[in-house]
Amino acid sequence: MNAELTVVVPTFNERTNIRPLIAKLYAALAGVEWEVVFVDDDSPDDTADHVRSIARSDPRVRCIQRVGRRGLSSACIEGLSSSSAPYLAVMDADLQHDEILLKDMLALLRQEKTDLVIGSRYISGGGVGNWDSTRQSISRFATRLGQGLLKVRVADPMSGFFMIRNDCFWNASRNMSGRGFKILLDLIASTPQPIRIAELPYVFRPRHSGESKLDSMVALEYALLLLDKTVGWLVPLRFLMFVLVGSIGAILHLAILGVFFRIAAQDFWTSQMAASLCAMILNFVLNNFMTYRDRRLRGNRLIGGLLVFVAICSIGAFTNTQIAEYFFTHSVPWWIAGLMGAAVGSVWNYGVSSQFVWHRGRRKTKLNLRPS
Ligand code: GDD
Ligand code: MN
Repeated sequence: MNAELTVVVPTFNERTNIRPLIAKLYAALAGVEWEVVFVDDDSPDDTADHVRSIARSDPRVRCIQRVGRRGLSSACIEGLSSSSAPYLAVMDADLQHDEILLKDMLALLRQEKTDLVIGSRYISGGGVGNWDSTRQSISRFATRLGQGLLKVRVADPMSGFFMIRNDCFWNASRNMSGRGFKILLDLIASTPQPIRIAELPYVFRPRHSGESKLDSMVALEYALLLLDKTVGWLVPLRFLMFVLVGSIGAILHLAILGVFFRIAAQDFWTSQMAASLCAMILNFVLNNFMTYRDRRLRGNRLIGGLLVFVAICSIGAFTNTQIAEYFFTHSVPWWIAGLMGAAVGSVWNYGVSSQFVWHRGRRKTKLNLRPS
């Protein structure tokens, strides 16, 4: 079977929604050669196992299980990349997106006058269902910000429901940031040439079962995506985050130094050591939650990571003071000398920790020697 349409569905703990969704796809896409790819980030409820068990008897169903990674956008990108169908759709697993739209989207793309069709909540006939007014205004505000970024007018750039031509996806894919939740916005902002966009209205339904994965970090992720799309070509975004976290650490450092040295009357060396250690631990925790959210360390790897991080930062701090002192004694003004030391220290800490603490994709595989 050569699929004409691949529907990509990112999942995290959606086991109970899989069968109902597949049934709805069958009903909505009768007469179309379609397939569905579930991209699961190793959900604790074993969504991936469940999908594979269905896939064994249904050739329309495929599963990509990603281990050690998280992220809605990057999951969608992986699913989209796995398809050779001419048309690609993305939709959520929780039945909030109206699958009836898929056939109309496909019909529009087949006419070859449109490259991307968006399921839109913010055009006439669409809606958000029963959201409270706070959620509505937050969504509207975020939508405006996103619209400001794009050169084309899109009513619902935050939609997670759309269909696109395969070649248009590939044109954009190399520029995509893959961060956070807003895959559609990322995609449109990453196309080298303007693409032809249509929007079809739908009403966002309540979640079928399970719970939403969007937490308080969503706003931060969104801000990062916007930053990445505007200044990202200039400075790596992770580095900006790392420096931001470092500045928070520096404030904590000064506070603790003050407490130990002035209030608890410890000697300067002890106070400075205690302050450095606390700042490093705070930096480690914040970087693990924010800067490297997508590669977050957990369990035993968290302890190991912390130790390596402290070692790296200690070398960074030593280099920092050495460089600053060198320039200071060569009659460079104190604050420039200080900044130069800090700059070299930050680049070192960032570069080395990205390799040795939060490295990408190099997971140790356990050798299983027992016969199974
Ligand atoms: N693979 C993977 N990894 N899937 C994820 C992850 C992840 O880290 N986080 C969430 N998902 C999956 C969920 O299982 C679900 O199928 C889909 O992505 C959407 O997640 P929800 O948690 O249901 O998000 P929501 O309903 O609050 O928000 C949705 O609607 C918004 C408005 O259209 C998302 O589609 C948003 O992107 C969209 O802006
Ligand atoms: Mn949802």
